Amino acid sequence: MVAVRLRLVKRIPNTGPYIRRAVVVGASAPRFIWLDQTARPFRSGPFRMTGEPLMTTNRVHRIAVIPGDGIGKEVVPEGVRVLEAAAKKFGFKLQLDDFDFASCDYYEKHGRMMPEDWKEKIGKHDAIYFGAVGMPDRVPDHISLWGSLILFRREFDQYVNLRPVRLMPGVPCPLAGRKPGDIDFWVVRENTEGEYSAIGGKMFPGTDREVVVQETVMSRVGVDRVLKFAFELAKSTPKKHLTSATKSNGIAITMPYWDERVKEMAKNYPDVTWNQFHIDILTAHFVMNPDKFNVVVASNLFGDILSDLGPACTGTIGIAPSGNINPERNFPSVFEPVHGSAPDIYGQGIANPIGQIWSGAMMLDHLGEHDAAAAIVKAIETVLAQDKLRTRDLKGSANTVECGKAVADILG
Ligand code: NAI
Ligand code: MG
Repeated sequence: MVAVRLRLVKRIPNTGPYIRRAVVVGASAPRFIWLDQTARPFRSGPFRMTGEPLMTTNRVHRIAVIPGDGIGKEVVPEGVRVLEAAAKKFGFKLQLDDFDFASCDYYEKHGRMMPEDWKEKIGKHDAIYFGAVGMPDRVPDHISLWGSLILFRREFDQYVNLRPVRLMPGVPCPLAGRKPGDIDFWVVRENTEGEYSAIGGKMFPGTDREVVVQETVMSRVGVDRVLKFAFELAKSTPKKHLTSATKSNGIAITMPYWDERVKEMAKNYPDVTWNQFHIDILTAHFVMNPDKFNVVVASNLFGDILSDLGPACTGTIGIAPSGNINPERNFPSVFEPVHGSAPDIYGQGIANPIGQIWSGAMMLDHLGEHDAAAAIVKAIETVLAQDKLRTRDLKGSANTVECGKAVADILG
């Protein structure tokens, strides 16, 4: 690790008040790097800085808070409680703006999931902290999800869907003989193109000649940018290893292309080792050898499957977090638990808030508050290890609020 001294040279408009560019003082040739909100170089930058950040005051993060539907309304307040405790402890400020849209309540009142100017309302925030959307008894799922969450992902170009897969203490593992520490990896899913394209159609519907076609779309830009994110992530981890999901033996045009781009991208990361598996055997390895993985990168469909299978292998979706990320920060990223609105338990106060709280930790990490993020994850581990602080889905006795308060209390 090289310790560098930085001098601020530029404040960048429209990227939040604290993102700046700096010049590395004392480097042999002039060298510029980007700083995050804590004035540390971005993780993906050419430097990792040791020691104290350049500035420690006046870090303000503007967050749009959207609880959505069902248990989203119960777990988001607990997530906010923990975020506020972390802000107090680690010396940054949160400006939290609440929004009631992206919910079925809003739909019933206004006939649409979000106001027409939703982009202006939340597009300038540093991040979006989201609960869950969907009340299938009241509004069909394709209307509620496509009218809100899917719009965030597409319109804010959140081309990375990032999910940690980690076996936590106190969570019974469905795989025999695995203990905390054995399973700890990331799934990076392409979130905007691939198999989920809108290109296709139906011909001769309702006749014997009925034909349906839906095309997979892989662009060089689209594939390369998600691979770059995954390789950068792998590079920042101790294991420095990446696994790519393919199916080039069956899908013989787009998947060999994906593999070709992986090979090309890998040349930029000589210190990252990598391998690839066909998706069918890869799912088997997730179950048989989950300890073998570090960063797994996959196209939209394969990533969708793997990012549900991974958390399922570590026990419960109640604790799994996710980020829908626009790495360039041209738009806010959305951080949300993997689970949905769970109408079956909504209103009972028993929902597990850990997935929401952990998503908050991912959000702080994205905003440059790395220490606060790590402290939240550590507090989650401490809480999950105790029966009386865990919620019922994990055979504990706490309710949603008690569990959320327990995490916040550890942060002090
Ligand atoms: P779900 O994730 O809401 O619930 C599945 C099962 O897990 C239910 O039995 C539920 O009680 C349980 N569960 C989920 N989260 C829990 C938690 N935090 N604590 C304890 N138990 C928990 O998935 P489901 O039932 O398929 O979908 C319900 C609604 O949520 C639908 O409208 C669906 O479209 C929507 N949904 C929204 C998502 C999002 O906003 N990102 C993601 C998944 C589903
Ligand atoms: Mg899914």
